[in-house]
Amino acid sequence: MESFKVGIVGCGTVGGGVVKLLLENAKVIERRIGKKVEIAFVADKEIEKVKRLGIPEEKIFDDGFKALSKECDVVVELIGGTTIAKEIILKAIEKGRHVVTANKALLAESGEELFKKARERGVSLKFEASVGGGIPVIKALREGLSGNRIKRIYGIINGTANYILTEMTEKGVDFETALKKAQELGYAEADPTLDVEGFDAAHKIAILSTLSFGRWVRTENVFVRGIREITPLDIELAAEFGYRVKLLAISKVVDGKLEVRVHPTMIPEEHILSSVNGVFNACLIEGDFVGETLYYGMGAGERPTASAVVADIVDIAMGNTYDVPEELFSDDEKLEIKAPDDF
Ligand code: NDP
Ligand code: HSE
Repeated sequence: MESFKVGIVGCGTVGGGVVKLLLENAKVIERRIGKKVEIAFVADKEIEKVKRLGIPEEKIFDDGFKALSKECDVVVELIGGTTIAKEIILKAIEKGRHVVTANKALLAESGEELFKKARERGVSLKFEASVGGGIPVIKALREGLSGNRIKRIYGIINGTANYILTEMTEKGVDFETALKKAQELGYAEADPTLDVEGFDAAHKIAILSTLSFGRWVRTENVFVRGIREITPLDIELAAEFGYRVKLLAISKVVDGKLEVRVHPTMIPEEHILSSVNGVFNACLIEGDFVGETLYYGMGAGERPTASAVVADIVDIAMGNTYDVPEELFSDDEKLEIKAPDDF
């Protein structure tokens, strides 16, 4: 049987989950796609961690760059950050490897450059896990809704912030305790200020907007306010008036300009998004023909995120290399974006 070889760089929360999934569900995947998905190598600074997952020593590297010398069909970047991760992805592309990443910070900063390089080299750069954890929202937007003009996106797309707000609302837990628990559960970013200050949600809504509105949208185009200032009293008062406080990411065209913003929002209790709690994420996307659609599921953590990463690997193994829409590379006139300072 044909083998499809996967190299994994970064074996932390998500990378560890991907290794576990590929080993535990190897037969399921093999039966489905008629190919063996084989782990060619795993690189992480801590070799022992990888060994404990059952990867043989000869396939383990203590550095992502060294690992790239080994043959594989796809490189999976799961170290995070915007410096070394970028170099690793560029190196993998240069070597003609497809790439899968969960790195929304990097895509929201350097997506245009990376996707151009991948296109020039004839490889795919897939990123399902970058938004919504285990929810296949990228696939839905890029493929399922491809015949629609996207009218608006409303998303609860940071699991950590939603977990903190839910703990504060339902259990009266204080902010710091809830954040600590989210970190222990593997939901938070290495730098959790990205979660609580709204920047992780900004990275994600920039990616969704790029897929939806035909132009590159970067973090700097997003108006951002986080949840750090939200107090138990705010939550209590909102509840008295029949609202829940949520960190909402919004992208829509208003008066001919694209508005992209992230901020705490009071959502009426009867609205479906107000019942999205804990680490769960939800994305409401409206298309001109399909109307409103809703995507819901666990937005962070080892297993849901691994599920999304493996979906990309399987897609590439099956020959589906579609990553971002063609229109992003055209010279057509682009939609103007409202400057964050104008909000
Ligand atoms: P972790 O910090 O848990 O894992 C990253 C791993 O990569 C660590 O083990 C780290 O080692 C290792 N590493 C760092 N630099 C190198 C290098 N040069 N070579 C090899 N290994 C290296 O992060 P996560 O798994 O949580 O996140 C990974 C990516 O996935 C990030 O981009 C994140 O934004 C994204 N993501 C995370 C989700 C989650 O729920 N956690 C969900 C969706 C996306 P060390 O710890 O020693 O530095
Ligand atoms: N830190 C992110 C979150 C991980 O809490 O949503 C998933 O992207």
